[in-house]
Amino acid sequence: MTNADKALEFIADGMTVGLGSGSASEHFIAALGERVRAGLRIRGVPTSNHSADLAEKAGIPLVSLEEGLPLDLTVDGADEVDPNFNLIKGYGRALVREKVVAASSKMLVILVGPEHIEEKLVKVLGGRGRLPVEVIPFALPLCKRRIQELGLASQLFMQGDKPFVTDNGNYILDCVVREIKDPAGLENDLKSIPGVVGTGLFVGMADAIVIQRGDKLDVRRRTGT
Ligand code: A5P
Repeated sequence: MTNADKALEFIADGMTVGLGSGSASEHFIAALGERVRAGLRIRGVPTSNHSADLAEKAGIPLVSLEEGLPLDLTVDGADEVDPNFNLIKGYGRALVREKVVAASSKMLVILVGPEHIEEKLVKVLGGRGRLPVEVIPFALPLCKRRIQELGLASQLFMQGDKPFVTDNGNYILDCVVREIKDPAGLENDLKSIPGVVGTGLFVGMADAIVIQRGDKLDVRRRTGT
């Protein structure tokens, strides 16, 4: 059994489910699609155009955020997870819709492993050195300057010789980070910059982490959930 299969245990007939982005989410969408084809009735809200395509091909009926709100559950991956279940997400560039869908859900389940597991489970966020921040193209120079004033270097994420454009028509600045001692404080500082649409910091949003180490599975739930 994989962590994607294990996450299916959170799903019940009739639920509306947020569908994450990235490789862990792709496995989950495939596993969920199999259940749907076997008769499970759920509706999905995708976090990216790519996940929408995959879900449609897998036979998962999709609805808009407006039709789905409030979602019962979202299943997604993460790039870093700290012991308080704070996350860095967005290496797959879908961070803004991922956060909107997660915030629209009663529960957020995060899949970690089997790849990159040691790098992803960190004591303090920032261990992998990167924090993606989505900015509107017009505001790029200001955002870069203000982020620099916060003490962080940043680099525009490129696709070939052009800036990468997100599903929302925006750019991504990859901030160079080290230990993020105050994730909530950094989130507030970054979000107060005009033109910043969202950051990859997910503070206090995850309810459960399903970890796969080799063929061993471990489900951690946030206290009180
Ligand atoms: C997509 O924007 C990301 O937030 C992904 O959820 C995250 O990068 C994890 O991706 P993997 O499951 O591919 O590691």
